[in-house]
Amino acid sequence: MARPKTAAGIPHLRRQGAATQLIVDGKPMVLLSGEVHNSSASSLPYMEPIWPRMAAMGLNALVVPVYWELVEPREGTFDFRLVDGLLAGARKQRLRLVLLWFGTWKNGESHYAPEWVKTDLARFPRAQTAPGCNSATILCLSDEARDADARALAALMRHLRRVDGRRHTVVAVQVENETGLLGGSRDRSALGDRRFAGRVPAALMRFLARRRDALTDEFRRLWPDAGGRQAGTWTEVFGPAADEVFMAWHIGRYVDRVAEAGKREYPLPMYANTWLVGHDGQRPGEYPSGGPVAGMLNVWQAAAPHIDWIAPDIYRNDFAATCRQYTQSGNPLMIPETHRDERAAANVFYAVGQHDAMCFAPFAIDDLDASHPLAASYALLADLAPLVTAHQGTGRMVGLAQEGGEMVREFDLGGYHLRVQYARPVEPGRVPGCAIIIATGPDEFIVAGCGLTVRFSGLGPEAPNVNFLALDEGRFVRGKWVPGRRLNGDESYPGVVLGSEPCVCRARLYAYA
Ligand code: DGJ
Repeated sequence: MARPKTAAGIPHLRRQGAATQLIVDGKPMVLLSGEVHNSSASSLPYMEPIWPRMAAMGLNALVVPVYWELVEPREGTFDFRLVDGLLAGARKQRLRLVLLWFGTWKNGESHYAPEWVKTDLARFPRAQTAPGCNSATILCLSDEARDADARALAALMRHLRRVDGRRHTVVAVQVENETGLLGGSRDRSALGDRRFAGRVPAALMRFLARRRDALTDEFRRLWPDAGGRQAGTWTEVFGPAADEVFMAWHIGRYVDRVAEAGKREYPLPMYANTWLVGHDGQRPGEYPSGGPVAGMLNVWQAAAPHIDWIAPDIYRNDFAATCRQYTQSGNPLMIPETHRDERAAANVFYAVGQHDAMCFAPFAIDDLDASHPLAASYALLADLAPLVTAHQGTGRMVGLAQEGGEMVREFDLGGYHLRVQYARPVEPGRVPGCAIIIATGPDEFIVAGCGLTVRFSGLGPEAPNVNFLALDEGRFVRGKWVPGRRLNGDESYPGVVLGSEPCVCRARLYAYA
């Protein structure tokens, strides 16, 4: 793709070992963030008190919508005053922004399409959940709708390049919001039926064949279950999953064309978010069919090469399992939406420490203030950020967030065996035990978090004794370790003890026979 002329070093992605990092102004950045309510960013006066409150909470970025209907109220007439106001509000508080393009899709329907789109069903047809039965979702097979959406995002990106191409306040763009079709597993319009009767595009089959060894567990189950065929109609190749794969391919293609048009103007990182399958056994259509759920991740990767990653909106209770699903097939982790209760204060440690998450953003963050425990987690992680980003993708960092029923976790790291004992069972209203543990050098560890104790021992059958050379509490200030108390007495007896408030310890170990 031709790169537009713009300031060098616009936000982009970079690989470091096994990790993908978001590079902002030349440095890797972890977005300690939150997403505002859907309507907040439609009013600049409403946002006014929110900006300083978010900065006081320790956020370094805010996730905010941009609404197609408000930027293009009449076809071809664009109004970016709201966007400019969001940039100004963020800059004043030194916050970065992730913009959500509320275009054709918002939660599986088309609520934010402009009036001139919503009311012209001849030009912008709807997906049909039964023949003749129009849904509230614009049809993903409509080239007119796709091109109109693409022109609008392109105009937004052109504007951003002009007003932000040097400041880099906006670091990423989400294209659409929770795509898919509700109320049916597939579009049943006459056009949809005709396309569905055709053959699976060769491009999709080639992609799947090439990536055969790197497909997600979910897709690996689904494809062979249907017979594992390499060519044929959607039903012949994908069997019972045919409707959903068909929708995922066509929605992915649509979103890709919108993203491509945007990137041609200003190639910021772009991603698509996901309304997850709510529970085992839930059927496509009960959740938006064709959205990038875990089983459709590979189909989206094939359909949408201009989408840099797929991001899960995690409201399910199995936070860790969902993070694992969305790091399959080389997908980097970003969490643009999740619960905003006390679990968020722990889950951010897991997402960032274990999976190199580029962004953690509880939803409805604008309801919160600095008294929320997330603020203390963000403060600690902000201090730790240079160390964390230096160790991403190296295999020398672990993230923990206690899960319901879990009291002990054991694993090996940096040549030692670690036994983590949580302080108490997970209870509503209390931050679960959580930590980032980094093997920073031979026999040296940084342990940061709360609500647990870490005990170190040697590896192997003839493991030597292990003890502390020195255990210090302290903090990182601009990347440099500033020690506090030396803890070699009673405080180190059970191991590295992290109390109920987030704190950082540095342990230097030695082994003896
Ligand atoms: C997920 C959507 O992506 C958000 O825009 C918002 O509607 C939340 N759900 C509400 O919980």
